[in-house]
Amino acid sequence: MDLVEERPRGYTSADDSRQFSMADFYELPDRDIFAKAKPFWQFVQDTLALRHNTYRRTIIGPNGHRVIIQDPYTGELREMIMMASNNYLGLTTHPRVVEAGRRAHERYGVGAGGVPLLAGTLDLHHALEARLAKFKSCEDAIVFSSGYSSNVGCISALIRKGDVALNDRLNHASLIDGCRFSGGELRTFKHNNMESLERVLAECDDKYLGKLVIVDGVFSMDGDITDLPRVVEVSRRHGARVMIDEAHATGVIGKNGRGTPEHFGMEGQVDIVAGTLSKALGGVGGFVCSNREVVNYIRFYARSYMFSTALPPAVTASLIEGINVIEEEPELRAQLWRNIRYVHDSLRRMGFDIGTTETAIVPVIVGDDPKLREMTRRIHEEGIFANPVYYPAVPKKVSRLRLSLMATHTQEDLDQTLSAVEKVGREFGVI
Ligand SMILES: Cc1ncc(COP(=O)(O)O)c(C=O)c1O
Repeated sequence: MDLVEERPRGYTSADDSRQFSMADFYELPDRDIFAKAKPFWQFVQDTLALRHNTYRRTIIGPNGHRVIIQDPYTGELREMIMMASNNYLGLTTHPRVVEAGRRAHERYGVGAGGVPLLAGTLDLHHALEARLAKFKSCEDAIVFSSGYSSNVGCISALIRKGDVALNDRLNHASLIDGCRFSGGELRTFKHNNMESLERVLAECDDKYLGKLVIVDGVFSMDGDITDLPRVVEVSRRHGARVMIDEAHATGVIGKNGRGTPEHFGMEGQVDIVAGTLSKALGGVGGFVCSNREVVNYIRFYARSYMFSTALPPAVTASLIEGINVIEEEPELRAQLWRNIRYVHDSLRRMGFDIGTTETAIVPVIVGDDPKLREMTRRIHEEGIFANPVYYPAVPKKVSRLRLSLMATHTQEDLDQTLSAVEKVGREFGVI
């Protein structure tokens, strides 16, 4: 390739921004590695001017059901209904959770002081890992500083040259990156399609040594639930291990909020149960639960664990209390589910396509990027904080507005959101 001839795309006018998305600025080869940043900078300014850009809206204060933001377009402070948070149970500001963190903050100070294997493991980390292992019905657990790093660390530690990781096509980026950072091969199967999984596994049988099938418990863009019984059954038949990412399932599904295995009555039957501590648990961090030998192996071979400082003590203490709250205050989950059912039923009745969601993640399918950009502007004007999801995060024909529901949403929050979405949906002919 003659790099000298490959100049960055001639991106010039604001009008062009209507046709482009971030994905178009991905590959702009140039001899100067900074060159690609310039047209992209212009693109971001243009999308802001057109009020199509809702990235990094600044929230002043806690991330609750209503938030005060500094409007990126006017600079003014305004209240919005939060419909994009993963704080499903409201634990981010739950008094018990906050108080546990405050006490640990005063007792231990700000940081853990080191990476876990050397000088950063506190008694609080042991307590959180033991609590998680029990909560997830596994022998042991390891805690990372984020859900992203736990997926990357776990998969890249276990998958080696000659092995293969088989991913549901809609798995989260952290799972895919874990496979890319490993020495093994990455294969995908059709979303929640067990015939496709079986086919890909059969192709892999004689070609690879170890096999790991990886699925999200609740899929992050569609809100549907993996067919865990069949995933496990098909994988077992082909001698593959199974890993499930419980990021959006923990605290949300299962009678006691223990996630997808509990939902299907399969606790203790999944080889690796991973997840994040940043969503229903309200804090930050990631975890991997498995048998004690596997967890021990990951402790010594996951680079994102070995080379990264342990979670701060206040967060760790809050997370332990968060698990206690999930178990002891089931009314939070019951309220979340009342909100989920109300919003699903209302949107479907209005005529929206909300796909196959069964949970707190609600895709309002638009399937037309320019239209979605304008709708995003209007939804923001209506005081609803929600995010659009464009290609390549989802296929173009199912680009969408994504709503996330919380236990703390009031009836008024839900009704105001529904009437804004209905109004804007009608304006743009989506319903
Ligand atoms: C399915 C899934 N897995 C993992 C992660 C990463 O978690 P964290 O934000 O804690 O790094 C996310 C978060 O966006 C997610 O949706």
